[in-house]
Amino acid sequence: MSVHSEIKKITTETLRKMKFDKEKITMLTAYDFTTAKMVDAGGVDSILIGDSAANVMAGHETTLPITLDQMIYHTQCVVRGVERALVVADLPFGTYQSNPEKALDSAVRMMKEGGAHAIKIEGGKEIEESIRKIVNAGIPVCGHLGLTPQSIYQFGTYKVRAKEDAEAEKLISDCKLLEELGCFAVVLEKIPAALAKKASESISIPTIGIGAGQDCDGQVLVYHDMVGMNQGFSPKFLRRYLDLYTEITGAVSQYVRDVKSADFPDDKESY
Ligand code: KIV
Repeated sequence: MSVHSEIKKITTETLRKMKFDKEKITMLTAYDFTTAKMVDAGGVDSILIGDSAANVMAGHETTLPITLDQMIYHTQCVVRGVERALVVADLPFGTYQSNPEKALDSAVRMMKEGGAHAIKIEGGKEIEESIRKIVNAGIPVCGHLGLTPQSIYQFGTYKVRAKEDAEAEKLISDCKLLEELGCFAVVLEKIPAALAKKASESISIPTIGIGAGQDCDGQVLVYHDMVGMNQGFSPKFLRRYLDLYTEITGAVSQYVRDVKSADFPDDKESY
């Protein structure tokens, strides 16, 4: 038997069971083959090809400009590097909001061409019919509530959402709706920890938090943020595990010095 076939792949069912067993779920983003390989080898349960690729990979200010074709390309690259984790891909802005048929077409392309195992979309009640249509086609759907970055121009800021009662109540009712519609999980972004706890206790599908406190059933971070590649981005919820910006710029400077001084390559590095 090959090593490959011994790896127990994570499925949406595994995540449901983890919530039931009170085992925390881990998720990180990746947008390319090499990163996906490292993140998978590190043991995360799920890899998200987030539309944050628009910011991190392409340098856009918001997630809005990234296209479905670009997200499919990133997903194809990630899938080739993953052996164990559940691969979830974002449907980008404009590819599911207008009507359920378009939403299904986008989700099908992401699964068929991208090779994703599941898709993630932002919103609750407003996109109910789109979610229903995608789930009915046999495609696993992860919801995303709270600070949904595709709505940034409606929100106006990236501040914590659902601090007021009305928005908090809608979030809980959207969580329940997503569960009813057959979503396998829901990402909760930047909401008060107490509300995330209440949401997690209100539904039987896992909640995966980012800036939503420790009572979510799992946590997700953007890989480039957690390894410290983005120096300018320091929200309160972020824990940096490395300072790769400093490490990498330091290594590049050293390389520049070594080449300029004719130290590199030396005899051992030459044929
Ligand atoms: O696009 C993304 O990376 C995300 C995570 C922040 C949850 O949606």
